Amino acid sequence: MMTLRICVLISGSGSNLQALIEARDSGRLDVEIVQVISNVASAKGLERATQAGIPCSIVEQSAFTGREDFDHALALLMATGSPDLFVFAGFMRIVGEAVLSAYAGRMINLHPSLLPLYPGLNTYQRALDAGDNEYGASIHFLTEQLDGGPVISQLRIPVEAADDVSSLQKRLAPLEHRLMVATVELFQNHKVECRDGYVSIDNESIDGPLLLEVHDKLKIA
Ligand code: GRF
Repeated sequence: MMTLRICVLISGSGSNLQALIEARDSGRLDVEIVQVISNVASAKGLERATQAGIPCSIVEQSAFTGREDFDHALALLMATGSPDLFVFAGFMRIVGEAVLSAYAGRMINLHPSLLPLYPGLNTYQRALDAGDNEYGASIHFLTEQLDGGPVISQLRIPVEAADDVSSLQKRLAPLEHRLMVATVELFQNHKVECRDGYVSIDNESIDGPLLLEVHDKLKIA
């Protein structure tokens, strides 16, 4: 099995990046994190990356005249270190055509909802407002549809009567980290592909997202 080369894209705290670093360091993941890219210069995740000795790049919209220029710069930057897989972990920006066409099928994104429910922002509040009794997070292939690419993996948690945004967030975060590590591990151990709008694992399409703690291909730490 070859070491999986990954590039992680962040905008904020980078706690999912940290989970990947720790899984790498413990030997659970056979990955090389070739680069961390942030579109926010002050992102705390950049400190985590630097501390772990991972090369970092910052690409901010303010340095470019338009969205297309930004996207071209990002696409170019993403090639550094020849990653096999791009992990969007809290990257709070919609990527454009230059990135989508260059890396289709090799980008995955973590989204805090049970997709296809609640693409976009304010997912926790929207689920609470709707009175949902279940919440969760998804990792999907990144496509031109906002949070709409085929879903690879999910985790589900019950919503308690007393829950608010912050309590839900608190319960979800550590599980998101586990989902992230288990999903990257899936890519490390299997051929995971995005084919015509569905997910195929080792040449077999899956009929729904793999569930953390349910599906044996998503191992539990
Ligand atoms: C995660 O909750 C993810 O679901 C959302 O942004 C958050 C990223 O957190 N898209 P972190 O930067 O990895 O700590």
